[in-house]
Amino acid sequence: MKKLLTILLFFLHTMTISLCEPLDPKQVKALQSLNIPTAKDPCSQPSLLCDTSTPFRHLTTLQLSNCTSPHLSLSFAALKSLSTLHTLLLFNCPFTPSPTRFPPQLASTLRSLTSVNSLRNISAVSLSRLKNLTHLTLSNLTIKASAPYVLLSHMSDLQTLTISHANLAGSLPKRIHSPNLTYIDLSFNNLRGNIPPSITMLDTLQLLNLSFNQLKGEIPSSIGDLISLKNLSLAFNSFWGSVPDSLSAIPGLVHLDLSSNQLNGTIPAFISQMSNLKHLNLANNLLHGVVPFNSTFIEKLQVFKVGGNGNLCYNRSVLSSKLKLDIAPCDKFGRPVSPPPSTRSSADDSSSGEDYDEGDYDDDGSSVIHKKEHHHGPNKVVLGVAIALSSMVFLIVFLILSSKCCR
Ligand SMILES: *[C@@H]1O[C@H](CO)[C@@H](O)[C@H](O)[C@H]1NC(C)=O
Ligand SMILES: *[C@@H]1O[C@H](CO)[C@@H](O)[C@H](O)[C@H]1NC(C)=O
Ligand SMILES: *[C@@H]1O[C@H](CO)[C@@H](O)[C@H](O)[C@H]1NC(C)=O
Ligand SMILES: *[C@@H]1O[C@H](CO)[C@@H](O)[C@H](O)[C@H]1NC(C)=O
Ligand SMILES: *[C@@H]1O[C@H](CO)[C@@H](O)[C@H](O)[C@H]1NC(C)=O
Ligand SMILES: *[C@@H]1O[C@H](CO)[C@@H](O)[C@H](O)[C@H]1NC(C)=O
Ligand SMILES: *[C@@H]1O[C@H](CO)[C@@H](O)[C@H](O)[C@H]1NC(C)=O
Ligand SMILES: *[C@@H]1O[C@H](CO)[C@@H](O)[C@H](O)[C@H]1NC(C)=O
Ligand SMILES: *[C@@H]1O[C@H](CO)[C@@H](O)[C@H](O)[C@H]1NC(C)=O
Ligand SMILES: *[C@@H]1O[C@H](CO)[C@@H](O)[C@H](O)[C@H]1NC(C)=O
Repeated sequence: MKKLLTILLFFLHTMTISLCEPLDPKQVKALQSLNIPTAKDPCSQPSLLCDTSTPFRHLTTLQLSNCTSPHLSLSFAALKSLSTLHTLLLFNCPFTPSPTRFPPQLASTLRSLTSVNSLRNISAVSLSRLKNLTHLTLSNLTIKASAPYVLLSHMSDLQTLTISHANLAGSLPKRIHSPNLTYIDLSFNNLRGNIPPSITMLDTLQLLNLSFNQLKGEIPSSIGDLISLKNLSLAFNSFWGSVPDSLSAIPGLVHLDLSSNQLNGTIPAFISQMSNLKHLNLANNLLHGVVPFNSTFIEKLQVFKVGGNGNLCYNRSVLSSKLKLDIAPCDKFGRPVSPPPSTRSSADDSSSGEDYDEGDYDDDGSSVIHKKEHHHGPNKVVLGVAIALSSMVFLIVFLILSSKCCR
């Protein structure tokens, strides 16, 4: 009993000591260079976490947000003395100069790196050295890389990956060496080429966002092997071909966005069997035929968009026009009644995607949006003329009536 007490006392004693240990002076200096006040115990600040080592404590987590100093710099030397960090979070701290590489010690210690609108310009090679990362989020910066595999090939522990608004070029990797990935967001980059069929290896993936890139080709049917997927967006690319049947094999899909591509064929009826679906966006494609859903299914969804598909129509005896689907009702042959003539021809030649592939694109994919607006053009003109005509008729009737009243 006495022994136990002494052990306990000793434990408490060492704990108190280590809690009171000062922060490593080199790290204090690094924090000062980042304008972080260090007069009080820095380890007591909410944006910092420290370990309990002796004689000095060391930082394990550092978060910097909304830096106001206009010339804040995160130097290589500061990063070097912060090499005990496991987690580095940077939000809206645009560094000038911004570090372009990481010290080797920090590179192997770091488990989680987030930079949103902070780091400016970083090479894929220096990112690839962060091989113990489990979480990587980079947004609004320039990554110099010939392709994503250059930075991903050594990150075998990676679980979540976001590289967005990063000018990331090249094609998707043929092999992914991170078996535990659950989250991939590569939206708003310059990725090109197809989705490799080997995507099937990512069977733990819950979210895949490849929207706003220049990807093309058919969506591979192996996409149905991503059985853990909940959210999928391939929007604003140049995918063609049909909506793959294999999607029906993904039981938990809640969010499916294939909008603004050149997908053709009909909407597969199996989608109505996907009982978890909450968000379905197939707008601005080249889909045709009758929408195969009833109103029970559509009303259950939070988002349902099919507009901007010139040859798509809905069955008036199944769906009410009150649903405002942005498409025409069908005639008895399953074609839209009185389709706007120019929409039909532009949908049939399907060449709009090709001008775009030839290189007249923008870094943020804005020309894709622009291109898709062509589909809306004729509808808006017709609508405008109709509104103008009806208001003129109304005005004339009103004038006649009011002139009668005044007499
Ligand atoms: C940073 O600013 C944004 C909006 O300007 C705000 O929502 C956020 O809470 C701020 N973060 C911190 C840690 O102050
Ligand atoms: C990085 O990961 C490797 C292999 O997973 C491991 O041996 C090494 O100790 C890790 N490095 C650090 C600093 O955690
Ligand atoms: C990015 O960094 C490299 C050196 O690593 C430099 O040559 C290049 O000019 C930088 N680009 C920008 C846009 O800052
Ligand atoms: C992204 O960074 C640029 C400067 O490089 C800045 O002008 C822009 O406001 C940033 N965007 C966001 C969404 O923070
Ligand atoms: C993946 O996760 C499993 C279980 O969570 C773990 O045992 C395994 O070591 C992880 N593999 C890698 C490469 O991180
Ligand atoms: C994909 O990314 C875009 C742009 O960042 C975003 O608007 C959209 O909600 C994301 N979709 C999914 C399924 O994560
Ligand atoms: C996934 O999709 C659901 C349904 O649309 C949405 O509420 C949720 O925010 C999405 N998750 C992410 C991480 O985007
Ligand atoms: C869909 O487009 C592809 C390529 O653009 C074409 O080969 C195919 O015939 C089209 N299918 C339909 C049903 O229009
Ligand atoms: C609507 O379609 C679903 C399948 O998506 C079906 O289970 C349901 O019975 C249909 N409801 C009506 C009223 O036809
Ligand atoms: C519309 O629905 C009715 C009733 O289900 C069916 O008889 C008719 O064939 C459908 N029309 C088209 C064009 O699919």
